[in-house]
Amino acid sequence: MAHYQAINDDDDDDGDNQSTFTSASSLRRLHSDQEEGAGAGVSISFENIVYSVAGRDAPLLDGVSGLVRPGQCCAVLGGSGSGKTTLLDVLAGMIPDGPNVQGTVRFGKTVINAAQRRLVSAYVMQDDRLLPSLTVRQTFWYAAALRRAKNDRMQSRDEVRLRVEAAIDDLGLRKVADTSIGGVFSRGISGGERRRVSVGIQLLTNPSVLFLDEPTTGLDAFNAYALIETLSALARSNNKTILFTIHQPRSNVFELLDGVMLLSNGKGVYQGPAAALGDHFTACGFPSGRFVNLLDHAIDLVVVDKRSPETEDATTERLNGLVKAYQASALYKQLEVDLAEVGGDDNAAASSSHIPVVTGYNKSTNNVAWAVRKFRRWVYTFTTVLARQFTNLGRNPIALGMRMAQLIAIGSILSMFILRLDNNQSSVQNRSGLLYQAMMSGSFVGMLTAIPLFPEHRDLFYRERRQGFYNAGTMLLAYVVHVLPTALIAVTVASSIVYFGTGLYPETSRFFVFAGVIFFGYLFGELLAIMFMGVFYSPVIANTSSALYMSVASLISTSVFRSYERMPDVVRWVSYSSIYKYASQILIVNEFQDLRLTCDDDEPCRYPSGNFYLELYYPNAVENVARNWALVIVFVGVMGVSAALVLQFRKRSMR
Ligand SMILES: Nc1ncnc2c1ncn2[C@@H]1O[C@H](COP(=O)(O)OP(=O)(O)O)[C@@H](O)[C@H]1O
Ligand SMILES: [Mg+2]
Repeated sequence: MAHYQAINDDDDDDGDNQSTFTSASSLRRLHSDQEEGAGAGVSISFENIVYSVAGRDAPLLDGVSGLVRPGQCCAVLGGSGSGKTTLLDVLAGMIPDGPNVQGTVRFGKTVINAAQRRLVSAYVMQDDRLLPSLTVRQTFWYAAALRRAKNDRMQSRDEVRLRVEAAIDDLGLRKVADTSIGGVFSRGISGGERRRVSVGIQLLTNPSVLFLDEPTTGLDAFNAYALIETLSALARSNNKTILFTIHQPRSNVFELLDGVMLLSNGKGVYQGPAAALGDHFTACGFPSGRFVNLLDHAIDLVVVDKRSPETEDATTERLNGLVKAYQASALYKQLEVDLAEVGGDDNAAASSSHIPVVTGYNKSTNNVAWAVRKFRRWVYTFTTVLARQFTNLGRNPIALGMRMAQLIAIGSILSMFILRLDNNQSSVQNRSGLLYQAMMSGSFVGMLTAIPLFPEHRDLFYRERRQGFYNAGTMLLAYVVHVLPTALIAVTVASSIVYFGTGLYPETSRFFVFAGVIFFGYLFGELLAIMFMGVFYSPVIANTSSALYMSVASLISTSVFRSYERMPDVVRWVSYSSIYKYASQILIVNEFQDLRLTCDDDEPCRYPSGNFYLELYYPNAVENVARNWALVIVFVGVMGVSAALVLQFRKRSMR
């Protein structure tokens, strides 16, 4: 098993994080353990954890205690809803300290707060959030780069490479190192391998403490066993402390476990060596049958059966009996002794193993150097996120096709529908209709592209935001930049087809104005959909909402149906809040200014010239071109900022 070097050995002394530390030296000590790789290791001990939330009468965790020593792999068992994930969240510091969380959590000998626990431990969450088109190696590479950026002591590329290859080996992913992760658009590695990748990402920082929420759920028996086997080996050979939840353990997993913790209704029903589980329940009067999976047996015993009041009463009574029996057992006494021993002499421990803090630039003493370093770190993070998005797009032919082909296809259809414009009276309506259609199509295509392609970036962002790698602004900026090349090509090609195909005003500079408006409309559509995908998790609802918004916004901002002057006041005011009003005026002026119009003998000559038409329906539009451009750009910017704010601050379920 490869020997990891610590990549996350230096905590972020950004200033913002530093302020959350109560004791930098104790944290430093935990980190120093990591620097030694398979060093002393860190035990996790917790006493009487009580966690309650408003609106629920019973606490979610009700006096849970336990101890996991370095080198041990411990499973938290329990039926669904028993509080397993909640316990992991508390221990890993995902649930912030507050009056609703009671009890003490020690890493090693030291009581540390939630923010510190979060920094020191790694947490593999239940579902995998990976970019589907990247290969396994690329996934590790970018994950390592992001961790490197967050860290002060930047490793060389070679060191990062070593780290990545070590993770590939440790998790047995060598065979699939260059295979795509896979997802909706393409097949890739298996579910078990995907889970291994998620574990490997967390191991890149060489954490001493690793939490995993249901790592085996969704895996077949073989893969589940193999994964636990890997975890168990990791714990032993690298002296890591591993705690994972599992709700349907196979019996063969049993032999791999060092410790078992059994939860029901937030109460601890058993905590101790896996080997003693059977005897404990036999002693409680519930021996397991010969061919029964002991773990299943234990879970069955403590599940509260809510199917009827009678069964609920009976099973609750049995559970309470078992909780009492456990608290009266020798195991529990032993745990209390062990906890006291681990907690022992806090102060002595803190002073004796003090390790000098390696400080980088301190914010208060050197503002310029601090700002420069912070900026460089941001640039590195930004380019990493950007490169990852480019790689992901470049490896996904379907996404590339969508980005390139949709706009061009719509442009061609539009162009074929109109065919050639001439300059007679009926061409006036054709022209303005074509301009509106082109503008709205661009925006719709933007929206329709973001709906299927953005969620994978969003979900990865939600995951990585928890770890504080970057904010929504950085992610969205990278996303927009990675969209630019394909968008610019597709918009230019599609616009040429429409513009020159139908014979709009033949002047190159006017073509670029046209293409520019289509481009910003496209970008607006994409950002609008992204904003709604921040508000609503479901892309289907985001899709409906953005389509509705666009339809209304385009309807009220065109004077195809009604001229502005004759609109009711309310509608006219609302129309000012639509980007399409300003974008369409740019296009109309671009086309009709100085346009020569002819009058055939058999039709009334309503519009002697393009300028006459502008004067009639769009008074002031000519003078307002610069203002309209400014507004279009402001609208796109505001939509981008809104999307970033929604993504950043929308409270998602913690999981
Ligand atoms: N933030 C919360 N607010 C209210 N109830 C919660 C919250 N988090 C979890 N719960 C409830 O606490 C119980 C335990 O949840 P959880 O720890 O997710 O169970 P498990 O992981 O064992 O399936 C469940 O009944 C769940 O609905
Ligand atoms: Mg859970």
